[in-house]
Amino acid sequence: MGNGVHSRELAVSDGEFAFTWSDFRQIAELVHSEVGIVLTETKANLVYSRLAKRLRAIGLRNFREYCALIEGADGADERQIMIAAMTTNVTRFFREPHHFEYLKKRVFPEMLEAARHGAKLRIWSAGTSSGEEAYSIALTALEVMPEASELDLLILATDIDPEMLRRGNAGVYASRLLGNIPIELKRRWFRPLARREDPDFEAVPELRSMVRFKELNLLRDWPMTGRFDIVFCRNVMIYFDEATQNEIWGRFAHVLRPGGILCIGHSERIATANHPFDLVGQTIYRRRGAKS
Ligand SMILES: C[S@@+](CC[C@H](N)C(=O)[O-])C[C@H]1O[C@@H](n2cnc3c(N)ncnc32)[C@H](O)[C@@H]1O
Repeated sequence: MGNGVHSRELAVSDGEFAFTWSDFRQIAELVHSEVGIVLTETKANLVYSRLAKRLRAIGLRNFREYCALIEGADGADERQIMIAAMTTNVTRFFREPHHFEYLKKRVFPEMLEAARHGAKLRIWSAGTSSGEEAYSIALTALEVMPEASELDLLILATDIDPEMLRRGNAGVYASRLLGNIPIELKRRWFRPLARREDPDFEAVPELRSMVRFKELNLLRDWPMTGRFDIVFCRNVMIYFDEATQNEIWGRFAHVLRPGGILCIGHSERIATANHPFDLVGQTIYRRRGAKS
């Protein structure tokens, strides 16, 4: 991280707006304290290119003015826009398909049968982005049991980015984004929005009713009461430092019921000693303890 020695030097020297290491550090510290994302100095160009559009749009002359705005009392809206610009929202339907195979074969048959007999089923897609992950979980449940939407089954889909949540809640996707959805599931649970060659597709009401989108920052309070049967938190922790990761893995252990399943991203792992999970598949953990 840039220190006082070169804080007045430019972090990006050939840009339209002056951007010093001091500006970079201020932005990186704000992003880290608000949402846990670590921006190393190697990201200076990326930060510049993602925020230069904002400076242009609001008519600022340099990053020093931008930092003053986001740190100021009236800067809350711009702070949120800045943080959204720093996050990576990449996602897709049935990303890391082995998780959904595991749910289909090893988890849902029993859980959905229990739900058919009145049990309640709660699933959390944490850091869901635009909803593809949450809908993929719902589609897997529907594949195992087509009447799953009538059960007491709810998928909570949370993220810090309101625009991603808005998209997820709308449930409308360009057809090219639906390529990974098995054709039968796509036909049954999505409908084309217009009669044209390449229409967008909308999740049907039964599918949408299974997912509830809510804004939630993983670093702050988790207001939900009750425990989850399954938690997906994939490709989110990878942006956090180890201490933050460890703290959040511990909090997931707390909100998962014994026997519950935690799926994490392909390049993530739970590094804390003595964590209460058993690894039961590739990046799939089961919460230890007697079932309650
Ligand atoms: C790369 S996407 C992963 C989406 C999905 N889980 C997947 O694997 O396809 C990471 C998401 O984490 C969200 N995120 C980043 N920091 C967060 C935080 N502190 N609390 C909640 N969500 C956060 C971002 O807004 C982004 O949508």
